[in-house]
Amino acid sequence: MGPGDLHALLAAVRLPPDPQEVLVGARARDDAGVYRLSEELALVQSVDYFTPIVDDPYTFGAIAAANALSDLYAMGARPLVALNVAGFPPKGIPAEQLAVILQGAVDKLQEAGAVLLGGHTVEDRELKFGLAVTGLADPRHLFTRSGARPGDQLVLTKPIGGGVVATALKAGQAASEDIAAMADVMCRLNDLVDPLRACGVRACTDVTGFGLLGHALEMARQSRVGLRLFADRVPLLQHARQLAAAGHVPGGTRHNMEWVAPHVSFDAGVDPLTRLVLCDAMTSGGLLAAVPGERAADLLERLRPRRPPALALVGEVLPGPPGHVHVSTGAGGAGTL
Ligand code: CO
Ligand code: CO
Repeated sequence: MGPGDLHALLAAVRLPPDPQEVLVGARARDDAGVYRLSEELALVQSVDYFTPIVDDPYTFGAIAAANALSDLYAMGARPLVALNVAGFPPKGIPAEQLAVILQGAVDKLQEAGAVLLGGHTVEDRELKFGLAVTGLADPRHLFTRSGARPGDQLVLTKPIGGGVVATALKAGQAASEDIAAMADVMCRLNDLVDPLRACGVRACTDVTGFGLLGHALEMARQSRVGLRLFADRVPLLQHARQLAAAGHVPGGTRHNMEWVAPHVSFDAGVDPLTRLVLCDAMTSGGLLAAVPGERAADLLERLRPRRPPALALVGEVLPGPPGHVHVSTGAGGAGTL
């Protein structure tokens, strides 16, 4: 569901007032919900599932797990337990394939230090798989979308363009090396909470269905600040631009473009294709984090040994206009490291 539709739907539901233990609830539009258990401990929960992105079932399971866990990391939580959620067609797909998908997910959970407790599978016309995940966080040190302040720098930890490559793959038009590169990026855990916390991260989210621009816009709105992104510094999957130019653009990406349009401005030098790719709806993208400007160099140094798929200072936080994102052509150019 597109971001605009989702917000309209939530607005139509009469939610009872949250008990005070709810630190981040359904109204907050953050990456995951947070429920305080004690002064030092909070539960962090999220769920995500979707149709296959890649043909290989093991890789699909691993991507589904990395993607679900990403919302926990984006809140500053440590993954603890998970439940799988699956829709499986009664005919046409061998049942062993579900086992392989689950194996990919279980191995990825293990890498994250989390345990699969069980799950639920229903018959469905289309194969779907995902996970509900639960983590633990210190309620005094949550990473929300609302803490970015003027002077902060924006760090991105994976390239964008995964939606474009996945759409080309579905059309049989993606090269095997582009599929492999996309799958590698999507399988990688956003397990970067410790270095982010050590550098005083102020706001954090992960880049998924709303695209980099959509998620940046959510951060700008909820932090009541302006953001500037430098288009030339944003890391892209190789050939993402060419594939988008050839028309392999997910419907979600075009929706994102329309949704962000009233709140985003571009330098004239930012071409239409770049604007589109900046909105690319992807799965299991990187973390977009705002850190105090004076800590940015230290953060990059601490992140580098973790070998994130990309590591770039892609923008900065401005005093205003609040809830607005401006995309500049590259200024300074030294952002990609
Ligand atoms: Co998220
Ligand atoms: Co968050």
